[in-house]
Amino acid sequence: MNILETIEQLKKEKDAVILAHYYVEGEVQAAADYVGDSFYLSKLAAGLPNKTLVFCGVSFMGESGKLLSPDKTVLMPDLEADCPMAHMVTKEAVQAAREKYPDLAVVCYVNSTAEIKSWSDVCVTSANAVKIVRNLPNEHIFFIPDKNLARHVAQQVPEKHILIHDGYCPVHEEMKAEEIKALKEGHPQAKVLAHPECNAKVLELADYIGSTSGIIAYAADSPAKEFIIATEEGVLYELERKRPDAAFYFAETRPVCEGMKRITLEKVAQALRDGENLLDVKEELKEPAGRTLKRMLEIASGKGK
Ligand code: 13P
Ligand code: SF4
Repeated sequence: MNILETIEQLKKEKDAVILAHYYVEGEVQAAADYVGDSFYLSKLAAGLPNKTLVFCGVSFMGESGKLLSPDKTVLMPDLEADCPMAHMVTKEAVQAAREKYPDLAVVCYVNSTAEIKSWSDVCVTSANAVKIVRNLPNEHIFFIPDKNLARHVAQQVPEKHILIHDGYCPVHEEMKAEEIKALKEGHPQAKVLAHPECNAKVLELADYIGSTSGIIAYAADSPAKEFIIATEEGVLYELERKRPDAAFYFAETRPVCEGMKRITLEKVAQALRDGENLLDVKEELKEPAGRTLKRMLEIASGKGK
């Protein structure tokens, strides 16, 4: 049996499904039952009938799956696959902001630990952050941890006072605007599609700013034939599937997320086989962190405030 057949058989034995983010290797995306952005994966986790969820991504994704489906078995092919930004805020910073603004809403990006989610009022992803912040009743918002997404939201929702924290994604923050400019000069017809985690200079060059799914959907529907992609290179797999006729260019310093690239097919098979890479969340965090994520799903679906 080859590795894909082994995975298929193990999935049946364990009543498991594989969920993968667009940044993991193409061969892992190809083996997954569902591939998507963080919002899509969170929504799915809340409603799938299977007993076991295998999260091919970084730990905050598995945690979100567990928080939204606490009775399910959540497996991570690599428990060390992590997102550095997910840790970039302290409880003291949140407390200080709450003391300063009594009506404050603490909005945490989904790229955050379960503990950070437990201190927050509502979670957002890059796909719904603007909509959710706009719909909050609060005037003052503390947006944690990502400064670049926070600034993008502040531009889109000028009626709110948004306090910006100083967290960042190393992959997107360090992308060089000069390299994107050089690509634009070489390909003047190309559209620049950027993730809102990119630094301000890169975002200024963008024709479209959106989540990984948003970027893929834009390219799929666009009449353009060339695209400059300012996000992690893993999206290329789906971009090429959706637009085999188009050309995609990335910055010369290739944006690669080390955490995402830790996931391999062998580790997926191993996690299914021995069931040892169980992801769990501390008991005392389950309710408050889960509430933050559920509120996101409610507001995003138009039901909550
Ligand atoms: P998306 O929610 O757009 O998939 O982004 C997740 C992420 O980690 C971006 O770096
Ligand atoms: Fe975290 Fe950045 Fe990797 Fe996304 S690309 S998971 S934000 S380190």
